[in-house]
Amino acid sequence: MKRIGILTAGGDTPALNASIYGAVVRANQRKLEVFGFIKGFSSLFNPRVPHVHLNPLFTTIPELDPTYGGTVLGASRDYVDPGDKPAIEEIAGRLEALGIEGLICIGGDGTLNGMQPLSNHLPTVLAPKTIDNDLGLNYRNEPDEWARQPCDEASGYRYARTPSRTRFDLEHMVNYVTPGFATAVFVTASGVQRIRTTAESHRRIAIIEVMGRHSGYLALGTAYGQPDMILLPESPLDVDLLVSRVVETYDLQKNVVIICAEGVVDENHCELGAETISTDPAGNKVLSGAAEALRQMLIQRLGDSYFTSKRRNESAKAAIFTRKVGHTQRGGRPILFDRFHGAQLGGHAVDMLLEGRMNAVAILQWSRERGFQVDGINGNDFRDRWGHIHARQMHRSFYNPEEMKPSRIGIDYLLPIFTNSIGQDDMEEVRQMLFNSGNLTRSYHSVNTDINKRIRYLDDV
Ligand code: F6P
Repeated sequence: MKRIGILTAGGDTPALNASIYGAVVRANQRKLEVFGFIKGFSSLFNPRVPHVHLNPLFTTIPELDPTYGGTVLGASRDYVDPGDKPAIEEIAGRLEALGIEGLICIGGDGTLNGMQPLSNHLPTVLAPKTIDNDLGLNYRNEPDEWARQPCDEASGYRYARTPSRTRFDLEHMVNYVTPGFATAVFVTASGVQRIRTTAESHRRIAIIEVMGRHSGYLALGTAYGQPDMILLPESPLDVDLLVSRVVETYDLQKNVVIICAEGVVDENHCELGAETISTDPAGNKVLSGAAEALRQMLIQRLGDSYFTSKRRNESAKAAIFTRKVGHTQRGGRPILFDRFHGAQLGGHAVDMLLEGRMNAVAILQWSRERGFQVDGINGNDFRDRWGHIHARQMHRSFYNPEEMKPSRIGIDYLLPIFTNSIGQDDMEEVRQMLFNSGNLTRSYHSVNTDINKRIRYLDDV
């Protein structure tokens, strides 16, 4: 193998450049050329295949900085449809014309789906990323526990989980954690601490919405910021319990901070924030307003009288506020944990390609004895019997629904990831760079400007 391709697909994470960097450094050592495709699979749909040579003379281009968030290659949610044979043939032809002998896709479950049809044409490896931490399995046979039930939806069926038959141990997890997750938790947990002091001062109830469409790992991790309650998609909302906990907490401390994952569901398993649904190009539901829906519920249940009886001069509407952490979770400098493991996974993906692996996934395993280690797995191990890859849900045992907090095993899950996950240089960077006087005089210089100058096309080769 002399030349490989790499792309970043799906929503971005802070660790993408670190993973690309890890792959390029390993490729330099193994004398492989790396072509980076612009904006994920979108580049491959373009007959001109815009791409960047990431290691001319086996030297990494200076624009590729593993400490910088996002992706120098750009990302998109364009996916290869496994049923679209002509498109797949065209893409395979373009990759061949460009001399690409293996492909690394950095992405999540959607990317793995898109990568599979290409694996019939050349070796392909997925290096995982997602802030939601939903690419992986809680244990090996988890995909077999999905059932397909007939329903009125366009597809004619819906997926449902059957009860788990497996004894669960943290060491059984396949891909314990994905690069990007730790930094996103770092952002959300810090956000909770900041919202807390203002809620405390003004005697308010704050509802903070965090990302995580089907998976509550991100919400669970915000426990580090010490919110009073955490609500996540895997545990349907019990409104009465929530209201009584809010009252109990407010009576005691005159402020409440609630974390609400964007995908939280009610007792009927309907998404709280789904009133205004739209879909992205990958067919994912774009949710809006779980926190706002929750706020309306609390306003109704508590009423103005609750706050006036506490000698608060504010209406329920004014006393209960929401904040979405939003895309801040996905951006910025990756913390040490993500940089290190993202780079390792990128490097391992190169090794796996050189071993000729087809449709494989580089994974991060954890054991009590050895800590974190990279490994590899067949992409098919993530599929259920109908070939579908499900987003990993947070294992129910990680959460205590009465307390609305992580359970003991949930805490045990978080500890290996977050203990020592922040590097001294992460803090030093803030100290030195944020109030750098140059920031006031120099305008922002986007890396895209420099990368643009390096873009080449299939017809140039
Ligand atoms: O899949 C990652 C994720 O960050 C989700 O948590 C969130 O729902 C979604 O992406 C938002 O994506 P975008 O704003 O890019 O459409």
